[in-house]
Amino acid sequence: MKIRIATFLKSSKEYTQCPPADKAEFAFIGRSNVGKSSLINTLCNQHDLAKTSSKPGKTQLINHFLINNEWYLVDLPGYGYASVSKEQRQDFEKMIAGYITLRKNLICLFVLIDSRLAPQKIDLEFMEWLGENQISFSIIFTKADKLTKTELKTNIAVYKEQLLQSWEELPPSFITSVVSKMGKEEVLKYIEENKTYFHM
Ligand code: GTP
Ligand code: MG
Repeated sequence: MKIRIATFLKSSKEYTQCPPADKAEFAFIGRSNVGKSSLINTLCNQHDLAKTSSKPGKTQLINHFLINNEWYLVDLPGYGYASVSKEQRQDFEKMIAGYITLRKNLICLFVLIDSRLAPQKIDLEFMEWLGENQISFSIIFTKADKLTKTELKTNIAVYKEQLLQSWEELPPSFITSVVSKMGKEEVLKYIEENKTYFHM
């Protein structure tokens, strides 16, 4: 699939303010700074559609992008961002939990994981929570360009091993880099195949 037109539609504080749930939707979540906004830009062949930053905590709201006038891509704020108050964190968790569990047209949530790191508790717990709430998700390992081929292979194998300790089956997974564009076509193909699951 080729993304021909990608336009920013709206930033929402909670799911009730999101655009009408009338199109297939795919959302990106993961720790702050993992590369959600950058990957959205790469998928859309744009530099500045989703705002990125080298500092964590850039994306603060639920951002909807309309793709090819046909489906939605959603850039979500990152979790695990240390420099926020307890209150802000709770508000944030409510906003994200509401969106994820109640958004009817959400076909797949992509959980982004930094391929350089050993499995982190915060990500594993987040995926457990998704499982408990029967939210289907896929994993995207990001920043592959920052590792050698061997390191990458080892880290992904370690991650899958870890997941198999709590999951019977592994979710679909992708390895990406916005520098080399690795994984871009695979993610787009997956979206193309899965957007047909949308029904009003
Ligand atoms: P929040 O909005 O704060 O949650 O962060 P985010 O997950 O949207 O991360 P963002 O896309 O803003 O990227 C964070 C930093 O990582 C930026 O400096 C990006 O340039 C860098 N980055 C993202 N993806 C890649 C990648 O594939 N390779 C490399 N080398 N850098 C990346
Ligand atoms: Mg972001």
